[in-house]
Amino acid sequence: MSYTITLIALLASFAHSQQIGTLTAEVHPSLTWQTCTTGGTCTTNNGKIVLDANWRWLHSTTSSTNCYTGNTWDATLCPDDVTCAANCALDGASYESTYGITTSGDSLRLNFVTTASQKNVGSRVYLLADDTTYQEFNLLAQEFTFDVDVSNLPCGLNGALYMSAMDADGGLSEYSGNKAGAAYGVGYCDSQCPRDLKFINGEANVEGWVPSSNNVNTGIGDHGSCCAEMDIWEANSISAALTPHSADTASQTMCIEDACGGADSASRYAGTTDPDGCDFNSYRMGNTTFYGPGLTVDTNSVFTVVTQFLTDTGTATGTMNEIKRFYVQNGVVIPNSESTIAGVTGNSITTAFCDAQKIAFNNTNDFATHGGFTSMTAAMNDGMVLVLSLWDDYAVDLLWLDSDYPTTANPADPGIARGTCSTSSGVPATVEADDPNAYVIYSNIKVGPIGSTFNSGSGSGSGSSSSSSVATSATTLKTSTSSKASTTSSKAATTTTTSATSTSTASGTVPHWGQCGGLTYTGSTVCASPYTCTYSNPYYSQCL
Ligand SMILES: *[C@@H]1O[C@H](CO)[C@@H](O)[C@H](O)[C@H]1NC(C)=O
Ligand SMILES: *[C@@H]1O[C@H](CO)[C@@H](O)[C@H](O)[C@H]1NC(C)=O
Repeated sequence: MSYTITLIALLASFAHSQQIGTLTAEVHPSLTWQTCTTGGTCTTNNGKIVLDANWRWLHSTTSSTNCYTGNTWDATLCPDDVTCAANCALDGASYESTYGITTSGDSLRLNFVTTASQKNVGSRVYLLADDTTYQEFNLLAQEFTFDVDVSNLPCGLNGALYMSAMDADGGLSEYSGNKAGAAYGVGYCDSQCPRDLKFINGEANVEGWVPSSNNVNTGIGDHGSCCAEMDIWEANSISAALTPHSADTASQTMCIEDACGGADSASRYAGTTDPDGCDFNSYRMGNTTFYGPGLTVDTNSVFTVVTQFLTDTGTATGTMNEIKRFYVQNGVVIPNSESTIAGVTGNSITTAFCDAQKIAFNNTNDFATHGGFTSMTAAMNDGMVLVLSLWDDYAVDLLWLDSDYPTTANPADPGIARGTCSTSSGVPATVEADDPNAYVIYSNIKVGPIGSTFNSGSGSGSGSSSSSSVATSATTLKTSTSSKASTTSSKAATTTTTSATSTSTASGTVPHWGQCGGLTYTGSTVCASPYTCTYSNPYYSQCL
């Protein structure tokens, strides 16, 4: 009796909310990665990857009729967001033949253009802990290391490895309309609050949908999906950027229409997230000979990228206050290049670096406005999902990464030149036609305490005897800096002293537009005349 009732209930639920298609079996490709411990012992994790939902065939739950063709929705199956979510199913993916995605051991290759029955451009995949759950990372007081081959990524292509504060189950448990979840790559969010997603919070995004004018596959709907984003790596063979993006609410939230802000909305800064982030691109920070083909970090061959997420306490319970970068190539450790921009010092991302850079480049400091490192700390504590992607840029041809941008500005002005690509490069139609065989390979992913994932002493050529010297001295330096800062602030919060922030002038005053206060701020609170320290939000006061 109870069996019969259960079966009827099950059939009824299939009829009204089935969202998984079975015309192609979904088999997640395997990808191993390693967890390391202090001392350098690493153990292998048997992970898998999953393709994002947006790339998948979406069809009627009862037939193979498309719910979405090209860049438009079927009006019968998708008259509104809720009905569409009930009527349509995401199907399994043929990873290699349709999408050009292959894995081998610890290595993932993403091909740019794959032509099967249709043309596919780029892809976005997530690391899974198991078949229905994304791997969640908290990188506080940890380092994240991987190898990358960008030698076949020309101007206009972005091979990106980053973290987004997505739900571990892709929103399956929170939203009854979402029956696919992480197993089918649902639940994406980032700091642009993308509105091109077909499903958000258990509903389709068909209401208000406007097909793209220049992309035959995409459009934008009324809804966007926001969260904090940690761009560990956005790069091609010409330029690379390391960029945290904060958000008022670190975890995934849905936004509506132009209130989303970001790249898909009328006003870039209207939302609750930081679309620009605080970026470190070596070329943009003044060193034009550091990264590229034949340069210090030679993009003609594979290299290792190490990213350290330091905290004020040196432990995972602290607040993130610095993001450091090292490269390793041919056994040599290469510290990140130093900024040569007037008024901006250092080779890592700190609050002082971000504040100084935004002033030097005359850019909006939305990183600070939306919580800065406090937000990134919250995102890590929530757990972030690893995203690996390859894409071309239908909005601005990726010029923000590898060329002069904005194109109307004087390239000699600080912050405009970001790489050697021409301002006419990166047009998607051109790169897809000229470089369809471009690809990126990510491999050898390792995560562990600071200094555990790479042989940090090999830069001196003296082998492992000094193997932890680079990382250890960095850690020591950081610890002494933060203990000094916390001593200062506990002694007298209003006292003007510090050498920890490079924005502060020698006399301890903060220039126009500079940060002068905030919950996690440890620098000078005195503004240069005639400016006044003005409260903006709990995390940020500014000299105005
Ligand atoms: C660029 O970085 C390299 C490697 O760190 C360094 O040797 C060189 O002096 C830097 N160039 C400038 C202009 O700072
Ligand atoms: C700085 O940016 C603002 C807003 O984008 C602009 O109005 C102003 O002219 C810029 N100032 C300089 C010195 O470029």
